[in-house]
Amino acid sequence: MSTEATTPPVFCAAHLLGSWDERHPQGAFVELAGQDAPVRPDGTLVVARREEMAEFLRHPAVRATDGVHYNMGAQRPLIPLDLDGDLHRKYRRLLDPLFTPKRVARLEETIRARTNALIDEFADKGEAELMSDLCATLPTHIFIDLLGLPTDDLPIFLEFKEAVVRPQGATLDEKQATMRAAGERMYAYLAKVLDERRAQPPCDDLIGGFLTVEVDGDRLCDAEIVDICYLLVIAGLDTVTCSLSCMFAWFAEHPDERRQVIADPALLGKAIEELMRFESPVPVGHRWVTEDIEVAGRRFPAGSMVEVVWAAANVDPAAFPDPMTVDFARPHNAHVGFAAGPHRCLGSNLARLELRVALEEFHTRIPEYEITPGEQVLYTNYGVRAAIHLPISFPATVMSGEAHDA
Ligand code: HEM
Repeated sequence: MSTEATTPPVFCAAHLLGSWDERHPQGAFVELAGQDAPVRPDGTLVVARREEMAEFLRHPAVRATDGVHYNMGAQRPLIPLDLDGDLHRKYRRLLDPLFTPKRVARLEETIRARTNALIDEFADKGEAELMSDLCATLPTHIFIDLLGLPTDDLPIFLEFKEAVVRPQGATLDEKQATMRAAGERMYAYLAKVLDERRAQPPCDDLIGGFLTVEVDGDRLCDAEIVDICYLLVIAGLDTVTCSLSCMFAWFAEHPDERRQVIADPALLGKAIEELMRFESPVPVGHRWVTEDIEVAGRRFPAGSMVEVVWAAANVDPAAFPDPMTVDFARPHNAHVGFAAGPHRCLGSNLARLELRVALEEFHTRIPEYEITPGEQVLYTNYGVRAAIHLPISFPATVMSGEAHDA
């Protein structure tokens, strides 16, 4: 992969600032959080401060879609992201119990085994490109285990995720056509999976859960299950891939802090939260306002689309003193890396588990690593922030994950 800098499309207000830096965008986000009532040149209102954001997102007139366009090539509202109010609450009541820390903990050993199998592929080489060798595939493997699907179907998910998150095409219309085509393939695939699963005895995986769970006394129909799974593919794969890549890149460039976390494993949970704050892998979200409202002294007219910049709120000095310092001991780290308000991330417990286990296993087997001399980490911040080229070097080891466990 070329390490040449590219000019990415403008995707959020911070990108328009002179202080924008693709490798270290945090400075531009601090600047954005410092502006009073920021507005993009096209008139889009921007919410960037942590406290204003919390109040804005709680307002009942604030919606997650305009009711016409759905996210990521979907033909119907994604459940629960494209729904609001009572209907949204109904689906969250159903889904939340399937993603509690206790429920996702069942996957811990599988995640460990999957991580080690991927590390086995490169541990004896002394170098790796961590994005493709580990970060890109691990969450997809785990997702397939979570749903209870065959590993052979992995490429179907990788292809779909790429097509909807980074659609090919020269124009917006072409990109949307790519997303729609990938969406249609995913709808057809999921419908076939459900047909097969209904013909088999019930299983204790997520699809098994969807087939048996009841909302207000009703079972979910196939279209609802497909609309939930479609969202989970989009929401749960690239986000973990990108977060993991940012964390490995950060640890590769901060050996002292890495050694500190390895020496005191109890620090890792806090380190992950602090890096979620600082890196903010999902930088921005959008909301629509259904009636004239006032929030924190600011007017939001009915019909406006609002850019909610999680990454700016995460470095708002009013909420996070000294925001540019990564401090694992930061008290009250109420970051919005997993969003806030009614649509806060459903999969945050699973994401935290995946990040922790992947970092633990990697650091146990490869505690010393650095960015390969002469190479540079290449970041993208378009859609989701990621270290898309992450070449590392380390002392080669022949110990496999299995040998290590013994
Ligand atoms: C580190 C990884 C992750 C990050 C940074 C992340 C971040 C986010 C953010 C910012 C939102 C809010 C989107 C918006 O309102 O515009 C969100 C929502 C959501 N996430 Fe995650 N996410 C991660 C992992 C996951 C995983 C692993 C899953 C499930 C397998 C998941 C499922 C969802 C769902 C279903 C929603 C929609 C919730 C709703 O609308 O009520 N996420 N996530």
